[in-house]
Amino acid sequence: MSIAKKEYKRVTVKSLIEMKQNGEKISMLTAYDFSMAKIVDSANVDVILVGDSASNVMAGHETTLPITLDQMIYHASSVVRAAKRALIVVDIPFGSYQSDSKEALRSAIRIMKESGAHAIKVEGGVEIKDSVKRILQAGIPVMGHLGLTPQSIYKFGTYTVRAKEEAEAEKLKEDAKFLEKVGCFGIVLEKIPANLAKEVADSVSIPVIGIGAGGGVDGQVLVVHDLLGMTHEFNPRFLRRYLNLYDEMGKAIGQYVADVKSKDFPNTNESY
Ligand code: KIV
Repeated sequence: MSIAKKEYKRVTVKSLIEMKQNGEKISMLTAYDFSMAKIVDSANVDVILVGDSASNVMAGHETTLPITLDQMIYHASSVVRAAKRALIVVDIPFGSYQSDSKEALRSAIRIMKESGAHAIKVEGGVEIKDSVKRILQAGIPVMGHLGLTPQSIYKFGTYTVRAKEEAEAEKLKEDAKFLEKVGCFGIVLEKIPANLAKEVADSVSIPVIGIGAGGGVDGQVLVVHDLLGMTHEFNPRFLRRYLNLYDEMGKAIGQYVADVKSKDFPNTNESY
């Protein structure tokens, strides 16, 4: 089923701005491997995010901090080979852009050159201005990420809603304006009050994609494993599960084990 206002052969950063202007909501979803990216792309998701949440859902780490640039490039290359329509955005991982802008540019170039992806995403605002500007100057599209920024989890101490206080909300609004002004093509807002997210989306010309940021923004992003219910311990209020694959897959695999043990599998039709 497609409810898009316009068909796109390949979604580009320009298409996203057009969607915002046309009032068409943008769908964004993570993928980290070839098989999942093929399904996500076939379902007409506009943007595939090769998120550093791969650190959690693919590698089992508690945070996004351990994933490396090489590992992100590996995940991104697999997604690029699968996705024919979606714009592919890759998280630039923790430790590969914060120390100086030259290192940030080198990391961004490696992602673009070695994976074939179309854009990168950075966490933070004014404090990483030199890196953002330098990457943009090289012609690499950049998406910002504000609000709950998981790479700074040890600074926050918790994964609770951000920017509830006036000072933090003001800083977030300034950061969003800064990202728009320097030329970012979009911003992810994670886990902030819905009215603040709407205010930000209304105040900038670039698309604002929310996760736990309410319905007043220009699009939504979720982690695909959460949407499909492959994860079951993570239950934030913002998450809508469309399937319960953790149980469904467990049942199917359990049945396979039983069939092997009982010698039901393989039968004669399944043998040569
Ligand atoms: O890494 C990720 O999956 C993300 C989304 C939560 C926006 O950054």
